[in-house]
Amino acid sequence: MSEHKEAEALEAGLLSSFPGGREAMAEVRFWVRILKEHSLFISLSLPCSRQDLIAEAQRFYNLFQGLQDRVECTARLDQRLIDEIRHAVEALIAFKRSLMRMLVTCELRGPLYPLLLDHITREAIHFLDFLNRRPCSDTLVAILSEQAFFLRIMKEHIEFIISLLDPSERELLTQAQASREVFSDLLETARDLKSMAESRPESFGTVVRFTETVIQRVTELRNFKATAHELAVLCRLLSAIPDPLLLDHVRREADKFLQELKDMRAMLKRWESC
Ligand SMILES: [Fe+2]
Ligand SMILES: [Fe+2]
Repeated sequence: MSEHKEAEALEAGLLSSFPGGREAMAEVRFWVRILKEHSLFISLSLPCSRQDLIAEAQRFYNLFQGLQDRVECTARLDQRLIDEIRHAVEALIAFKRSLMRMLVTCELRGPLYPLLLDHITREAIHFLDFLNRRPCSDTLVAILSEQAFFLRIMKEHIEFIISLLDPSERELLTQAQASREVFSDLLETARDLKSMAESRPESFGTVVRFTETVIQRVTELRNFKATAHELAVLCRLLSAIPDPLLLDHVRREADKFLQELKDMRAMLKRWESC
């Protein structure tokens, strides 16, 4: 098979594995940058007594920076590059898990929240699943599973923001707490609907309505994150957020979810009730 044909087949394989059929290259570029930033957030959150772990996190940052430079300069994904990215993601997941073991056994202490570490590990696993092309046979279940994954991510972003805002930021905290309630309910509903969808119904209008509500709520959350990022950059926000980049990072993840939701909304047409 020619290199060109091989790249096309690879992309087709990657595309077929995902609800919404998103472009594989965009997917890879998005996650490689996200994982690079996770390495930075880890290095910023480790105690200065653990220079060995800080150096390890910085090595991952450099590794993903190198991969990001390559995926941004190439027009097509080849098998070698995909394999290198896969190995880097697997190694980063192993590093995150080793930190988690140290945190839960109190071998490691400091400002790195275990739930934040768990959150960024789940995001890396999500990308690894994409690279390993594990298709789900039921599209409706796959859509709801993807929504539940991202709704949990969104709910946790709000929880991290709440825990990092200064207690004097009362107005923003009230807004964030209300948003947490909303996302907690949406997550629970997505899980319920996913379970119901396993009965393989021919139509499921409630999922269409639910997806429209999710699009609306995620848009609001995305705007909240964008505003918080702007305030942090302008030094008009009191918080313990180590770098404003964290707020831009979670805003980009909300934008990613929104893009997927719009693709899902189009795919859900066949489940509209008559
Ligand atoms: Fe992330
Ligand atoms: Fe996240």
